Amino acid sequence: IMKIVIRSTAGQAMSLTARIMEHALRRDPAMTLGLATGRTMDGVYADLVQAHRQRGLDFSRCQTFNLDEYVGVPPSSGRSYRAYMDTHLFSQVNIARSATHVPDGMAPDLAAHCGEYEHSLHASGGVDLQLLGLGRNGHIGFNEPFSAFTSRTRVVTLDPATRDQNRDMFGGDPDHVPYHAITMGVGTILDAHRIVVLVTGAAKAAALADMIEGPLTASISATALQMHANCLVIADETAAAAL
Ligand code: GLP
Repeated sequence: IMKIVIRSTAGQAMSLTARIMEHALRRDPAMTLGLATGRTMDGVYADLVQAHRQRGLDFSRCQTFNLDEYVGVPPSSGRSYRAYMDTHLFSQVNIARSATHVPDGMAPDLAAHCGEYEHSLHASGGVDLQLLGLGRNGHIGFNEPFSAFTSRTRVVTLDPATRDQNRDMFGGDPDHVPYHAITMGVGTILDAHRIVVLVTGAAKAAALADMIEGPLTASISATALQMHANCLVIADETAAAAL
């Protein structure tokens, strides 16, 4: 079942998302959180850091698994998603590094690493609450068009459009954006007990309409979420404009 909540502004949509995560973590401090990166998420993590500082939200018992990471970008690079997570959340709350999992884009054997990532995810009991953003081409994580709905964590080739959208992180030149990434698969994402998708901005309106109202199709990975038993979509008005 997909439920949809529309908020007037992106800020309100972000705060609601953060409040839902805070509530889930208070109910089950030892939960496993699935986390996402991207500009859309900046405000969510800022709110969670504030919840930690002002209301003592405790991260010391939870585990986190991120959706994706660029291949060939070291964790120490400011451009990696590991660095994004460290900066926006992990370094600002009480979570041990060993409890945070982000795929390693520098792993010598990437295929083996993807298998191990799935294994640790499973060993943690699986994702209780998965936070998701939406790509303009309908990707979730880095599951580009035509990813199988049953796909697991693997190495993928990025869409030229995706590399272009993320070029700002790499000095503005799409050619400097990695060609490959590691991502949890669509099947991996669907295994989460509960999913919260945050979608803001007019650039996402078409993808959001396809995700919610379009037919199930591997050409738009996010349509797979229609099959999930507990998926909440939080959108602002501009993103919801084409619904
Ligand atoms: C990126 C990430 C996704 C993210 C999406 C939207 O490429 N791999 O996990 O949800 O694209 O990003 P943004 O929030 O910056 O629009």
